[in-house]
Amino acid sequence: MRLTLEIWRQKDATDPGRFVRYDLPEVNHHMSFLEMLDVLNQQLIGKGEEPVAFDSDCREGICGMCGFVIDGTPHGPQRNTTVCQLHMRHFKDGDTLVIEPFRARAFPVIKDLIVDRSAFDRIIQAGGFISVNTGSAPEANTLLVPLHNSEKAMDAAACIGCGGCVAACPNASAMLFVSAKVSQFALLPQGRPEAARRALGMVRAMDACGFGNCSNHRECEKACPKEIAIVNIARLNREYVKASFASHES
Ligand code: SF4
Ligand code: FES
Repeated sequence: MRLTLEIWRQKDATDPGRFVRYDLPEVNHHMSFLEMLDVLNQQLIGKGEEPVAFDSDCREGICGMCGFVIDGTPHGPQRNTTVCQLHMRHFKDGDTLVIEPFRARAFPVIKDLIVDRSAFDRIIQAGGFISVNTGSAPEANTLLVPLHNSEKAMDAAACIGCGGCVAACPNASAMLFVSAKVSQFALLPQGRPEAARRALGMVRAMDACGFGNCSNHRECEKACPKEIAIVNIARLNREYVKASFASHES
């Protein structure tokens, strides 16, 4: 099939950037979206032009490296799918696709479709871990975890840190990401001892990084390739309020 691509090209963080049009006359519908861009890049390299820069690693939907916006939607039109797992059969012959980087103040563009997502690392460093040394694996039944809690924790832990939720949110909020990372620990007994410090630290880091606040648009939930639900944001808010009161009391 034939496609026209309008791709955001930006040399570096200081370049104002612009859309550039490319025609791809023979796109195989079995290709993934990133393979289609690989083909475009081979053609650009063959002509002595600069290939389009984009992030990827696993290309299996598990690492969170890939991500850009296709026709206004982070990760493209297919629900619950990272852009590396999106296949060209979901598009039609003759389509024009507009491809641009995630737009958020806290995610500055590095080049073309690559943005700097190190703000997420700073949020994780502020509390997204368990610091106790648990030694070797204990016998499983010594620490009982209710089944519904373990399942909710596993669902939250599915967040791959891609940043699609931030790009989808009109406020460029990182609440869905932070709520998933807080929830995966808050729901398990191992995460409770540091729960208050974690919620306060991660929310403060999120604010310091320049992300906006949540105003319940729910665009994040729609764009998330890992089905992270906004019920996690309600849990984050509860954890944060509890932790705030506790820190005033102590
Ligand atoms: S919540 Fe979803 S969209 Fe946001 S970083 Fe995690 S996986 Fe990506
Ligand atoms: S490249 Fe790893 S999730 Fe897409």
